[in-house]
Amino acid sequence: MTKLTWHGHSTFTLESKTGTRILIDPWFDGNPVADRSAAEVEGVEWIFCTHGHADHFADAIPLTRRLGATLVSSFEIIQFAQGQGVEKVHPMGVGGGFDFPFGRVKMTAALHGGEVHGDESGRWTCTPGGFLFHLDGLGIYHAGDTALLTDMQLLKGQVDVAILPIGDNFTMGPEDAVRAVEFIGPKVVIPMHYDTFDLIRQDPEAFRSRVGDRARVETPKPGGTVEIGDL
Ligand code: NI
Ligand code: MN
Repeated sequence: MTKLTWHGHSTFTLESKTGTRILIDPWFDGNPVADRSAAEVEGVEWIFCTHGHADHFADAIPLTRRLGATLVSSFEIIQFAQGQGVEKVHPMGVGGGFDFPFGRVKMTAALHGGEVHGDESGRWTCTPGGFLFHLDGLGIYHAGDTALLTDMQLLKGQVDVAILPIGDNFTMGPEDAVRAVEFIGPKVVIPMHYDTFDLIRQDPEAFRSRVGDRARVETPKPGGTVEIGDL
C-alpha cells in the first residue's frame, strides 16, 4: 500500500509500496503541532522541499546530512544547501520533471514568496513550487504554499491525491482550495498548512463539506497515515 503520513503543517512522509520513503517539506523542531522531533526521523532516502521558508525547509539541511538522504528542490535552494555542506542533491526547476529511481516527479508552479531560510544575503531568493509524484501507478500532488492558480487546470487527469493548503492568510483558503479541487479533479484530497498557529485556523470538517462529492477528503491528525489503495 502507498502511504502518506502527515506530520503536521506541510510535512509529509510518502512511502511507496516497495518501502522507499520520501520526506516532503520537513519542519519538526519548532513546529507546534509536529508529531515527532527531527531527531526521531529515520529511514528517509529522499527529502523534497517546495520552497525555502522556514516552515518547509528548517529541518531539511540537518536531516539530509544526518540521514544521508538526497535533497531535491529548486536550483537556487540546492546551491544554498551545497554552500552549507550538503553533498547529495538534485536541483530542479518549475516545469521540469525527472525520472527518479522510485518514479517521475515534476516540479509544479506555485505563487508565493521566495525567501530561503538561513540565507542572510538574499542571494538565493527564488521561485517556489510544488511536486507531482508519479509512484505506484498513482499521481500524488503536494502543492506547496500557493495561491489558487488557473495553471492547476493543467494537472487535471494526472492527480489521484491532491495535498492542498487550506489555511488562508499565507496561502489559499478553503474557498479557493475547493476551486483547486475543481481544477485538478483528484479522487482524494488531504488538506495541509492549517491549525499550526492562530493565523491559519480552519475547520477541516467544514472544508470536507465544501468539497462535497467532488472528492474524498482525508483529514488525518498529525502522526496519522492515509493508506492509498487502488483508486
Ligand atoms: Ni511559505
Ligand atoms: Mn508555509
